[in-house]
Formats: sequence, C-alpha cells, structure tokens
Amino acid sequence: MAKIGFIYSTVDGHTLEICQRLKTVVEEGGFETAILELTPDSAIDLTDFDQIVVGASIRYGKHRPEVVRFINDNIEQLESKHGAFFSVNAVARKPEKKEPHTNPYVKKFLKTITWQPAIIGIFGGRIHYAKYRFWDRTMIRFIMWMTKGPTNLDANVDFTDWDEVEAFGRALCELVNREN
Ligand SMILES: Cc1cc2nc3c(=O)[nH]c(=O)nc-3n(C[C@H](O)[C@H](O)[C@H](O)COP(=O)(O)O)c2cc1C
Repeated sequence: MAKIGFIYSTVDGHTLEICQRLKTVVEEGGFETAILELTPDSAIDLTDFDQIVVGASIRYGKHRPEVVRFINDNIEQLESKHGAFFSVNAVARKPEKKEPHTNPYVKKFLKTITWQPAIIGIFGGRIHYAKYRFWDRTMIRFIMWMTKGPTNLDANVDFTDWDEVEAFGRALCELVNREN
C-alpha cells in the first residue's frame, strides 16, 4: 500500500489540523499515512514515503526558515516524487488571494525554491486572539484591522474552507495513483 508523508510546520496547530483532515481523506482513499512535525531540529527521512506533502503556515509574512531548508535538503526526493505543498495564511481568507499566482506569500515562496510541487493548496488560517501572547496579539490585530478582518479580542475565527482541504486530499490520492 502506498504511503503518504505529511510534513508540517506550525506555530499554533492549525496546519496540523489541516494535515489531520487530509490524513482522513487519503486513508479513505486507501493509503497509509504518517504526520511528522518539521522543527529546526527535526531529522525527517523521506525514503519511507511514496508521496510527500509539505504544509506550512505564515507568520509575519513568511514560512519558517526550516521549511525552505527542508525543501532544499531533500530536493532530489521531492522532485522525483513531484509532491504537494500547502500554505496556511490569513490573507487567503480573501478569494482573490488564494491562488499560487495571487497569494503574495506563495508567489514569493515559489520563487525562492526550485521545487515545483505537482499540487499547491492555499488555505485560510485561524485567528484566535486568546491563544496569542501580548505582542503577537497586538501585531496580528493590527494586521487584521488593516485588512478588514476580525479585531474583537474574543474572536476565534476559522477561515479554512474545509471542502477545499478535502478536494486537495482527493487530488493527492489521484496523484499517488497516477505516479505509482
Ligand atoms: C503573530 C501572527 C502573525 C501572523 N502573520 C501573518 C501574516 O503576515 N500574513 C497572514 O496572511 N497571516 C498571518 N498570520 C495568520 C496565520 O497564518 C494563521 O493564524 C494560521 O492559521 C496559523 O497557522 P498555524 O497555527 O499552523 O501556525 C499570523 C498569525 C499570527 C498569530
């Protein structure tokens, strides 16, 4: 049975939640899965996997540096499998900013790496002020105010379109079926 590895980079756990939903979808599609966290110290061996998905959230305009490092360190394996990538960010709550060529972070990110994933997903994230420390709360609230998002400190808003996440999962199953 083909095995799909989900490698994720998160701060508050929303990217992990998306991986968990994807895991359910691809397991229903008949595949084995593993979810592994990417941290500055993680040593992830990709040889075990028939297909790889890298998922990462945006903070202050960027994915964390270990995401680019991981991609560069594993470029041969990623390129040979083609692979999938998804980004989670608040800007993607706007329909006109959720395509690889319209989401500013993904657009820029794809220019910094040579990998061209076969599937790219861009999902709206979650804004949950109660989870953030003072400085982060102040900063993201300011960003939300600038971009007409929620600014009420009680807000806990999930901007992820879970139907799109599931469609990404199904596209992944098709990719694995095609490539194996
Ligand atoms: C401190 C902070 C900074 C953020 N910066 C950005 C940003 O620059 N652009 C953006 O679109 N979303 C930004 N976000 C929104 C996150 O991408 C969103 O909350 C996402 O769900 C986080 O995923 P995670 O829990 O997997 O880390 C920020 C969130 C926080 C708390």
